[in-house]
Amino acid sequence: MRLKDKVALVTGAGAGIGKAIAETFAKEGAKVVVNDMNPATAQAVADGISKGGGTAAFVQADVSKEADAVKIVKFTVDTYGSLDILVNNAGIELIKPTHELTEQDWDSVMNVNLKGLFLVSKHGVIQMLAQGGGSIINMSSAAGIIGFPLLASYCATKGGVVQLTKSMALEYRPANVRVNAICPSLIETDLGDRFVESYNAAGIPAEELLMSMQGRMGTVQDVAGVALFLASDDSSFVNGVALPVDGGACAG
Ligand SMILES: NC(=O)c1ccc[n+]([C@@H]2O[C@H](COP(=O)([O-])OP(=O)(O)OC[C@H]3O[C@@H](n4cnc5c(N)ncnc54)[C@H](O)[C@@H]3O)[C@@H](O)[C@H]2O)c1
Repeated sequence: MRLKDKVALVTGAGAGIGKAIAETFAKEGAKVVVNDMNPATAQAVADGISKGGGTAAFVQADVSKEADAVKIVKFTVDTYGSLDILVNNAGIELIKPTHELTEQDWDSVMNVNLKGLFLVSKHGVIQMLAQGGGSIINMSSAAGIIGFPLLASYCATKGGVVQLTKSMALEYRPANVRVNAICPSLIETDLGDRFVESYNAAGIPAEELLMSMQGRMGTVQDVAGVALFLASDDSSFVNGVALPVDGGACAG
């Protein structure tokens, strides 16, 4: 068990990548708080973990609101006594030509993907400083490293996540808090499927993207395994990285 007795909070864990990370962490012995905006899916994931013999609780919250960020960190500490691992996974996509983006479009994706990640990190790190350390894992994207058409606002948020990660890694290194980012390319989730459909509809063959990724989409387990590595002591000397999980898509 690589996370025995650790306490983990995973945001946006009612579906997709976050769900797989929550389940993987629980199998490795962590007590897991499953957050999502959608209480039904968050509860289902937490119940599934508990039924399988793991330890989990759920908390409904919208990470883009500071009061909710405070709430989920407090819920984690009140329920399990600490916050050792924070996975900032909650995110939304926005696929539109840049010249058609409204101010509201821009704000909506910024608020969740970048501001929300900052807010939960801020309150999470306050707890980690008080308890003497922790590991923060931020879900960026290949879109945080390279550009993609129709994804300008999404790419801007994910690039912002990489820079927030590096800055916080340096800032909190003396306090034993590690901060790393994962940069997946296309992963088999509802979001990944919507992305492929929108690209195909816009006449940009998703097939070409897949060829740059070893000919397939990634699986949620491809990402959860890397999150487990970054959460565990196996990565104790890894800090401030933006790690592609992309079948080589960002390599050239
Ligand atoms: N699937 C991909 O191809 C892919 C690739 C690169 C990066 N990512 C990133 O991985 C993360 C997870 O993506 P996914 O594919 O699992 O998406 P998904 O849409 O399948 O699941 C995302 C979950 O986050 C929740 N969520 C959305 N906004 C929230 C908010 N404000 N507060 C709390 N929860 C919220 C949703 O309810 C949903 O359950 C996202 O940050 C995404 O940008 C995904």
